[in-house]
Amino acid sequence: MPFPVERPRRLRRTSALRALVRETVVTPRDLVLPMFFHAGLVEPRPIATMPGVDQLPVSHAARAAREAATLGLGGVMLFGLPVAKDERGERGADPDGPVPRAIREMKSAAPGLVVMADVCVDEYTTHGHCGVLRTAPDGAVDVDNDATLDVLSRIALAYAEAGADVVAPSDMMDGRVGAIRAALDGVGFTDTAILSYAVKYASAFYGPFRDAADCAPQFGDRAGYQMDPGNAREASREARLDEQEGADMLMVKPALPYLDVLSKVREATSLPVAAYNVSGEYAMLKAAVSAGMLDEPRAVLEVLTSIRRAGADFILTYHAAFAAGLLG
Ligand code: PBG
Repeated sequence: MPFPVERPRRLRRTSALRALVRETVVTPRDLVLPMFFHAGLVEPRPIATMPGVDQLPVSHAARAAREAATLGLGGVMLFGLPVAKDERGERGADPDGPVPRAIREMKSAAPGLVVMADVCVDEYTTHGHCGVLRTAPDGAVDVDNDATLDVLSRIALAYAEAGADVVAPSDMMDGRVGAIRAALDGVGFTDTAILSYAVKYASAFYGPFRDAADCAPQFGDRAGYQMDPGNAREASREARLDEQEGADMLMVKPALPYLDVLSKVREATSLPVAAYNVSGEYAMLKAAVSAGMLDEPRAVLEVLTSIRRAGADFILTYHAAFAAGLLG
């Protein structure tokens, strides 16, 4: 029965009616705050490309955990910057590295807070790639998939031993979810969950993060292991493989330029699906706000709503604390 009988505006007349029929809502529980712990700092150090985000000393971990818990956030995702790097990223597995130390502090300060830790070697390698390198007879250098699985598994184990609720491999090596699950189960960490960065694109939008985590590749790029931005069917394949290997949750990353992919992955799996509203998405919005071009509270909530609407159960976002403040 078309107009004049059908009138969608009837349900938009008051804010109470709009709230009653709203399909998608965002709450602080849906938001996970990424954080950077730097082993060499005594004071927070601002990240120039990400206004409002700091690298933190481990001594701030307990306070940060209490703040996140008070805001009612869904959790935190930890990244670490070591004092020294090596070819293979071995320091990622150091139980006294910045991430295991921060996990212990956070879990004892706020035991109910969900603490997740990013598993990758790029913050720990001198070359900035997400894996161990190998040189082919013709001199070509690339990332050795299978040789990387061992160090990733040991990093995941170090985080699990420190008390992480969730370990989150972001390297995009084939088979890493299965390798990490086997390593954890082998020593009794059967309850540590795996959030797989299953669908991660080779994206320009990670630019600011590479400053934040000091992990820009020193040569080449990540296109040999991260996904091609043109591919959507491949996302369902990556999601299926990680689910079969034992992932408990899947992630799509970045978020805004890949909302179509997020919605496909949501249809393809019954696992919880996360999306990462990455550093470049954050920097873009903050730059527009500081130039007076956008209203920050409205823009942030609209971005987060769109990511939820596309199918994300939860969102990793640098806006988490600000948004939680708005949502009360
Ligand atoms: C890799 C990793 C990256 C991000 C999270 N984990 C960078 C990359 O793959 O280059 C990006 C996060 C962001 O841009 O906010 N360890």
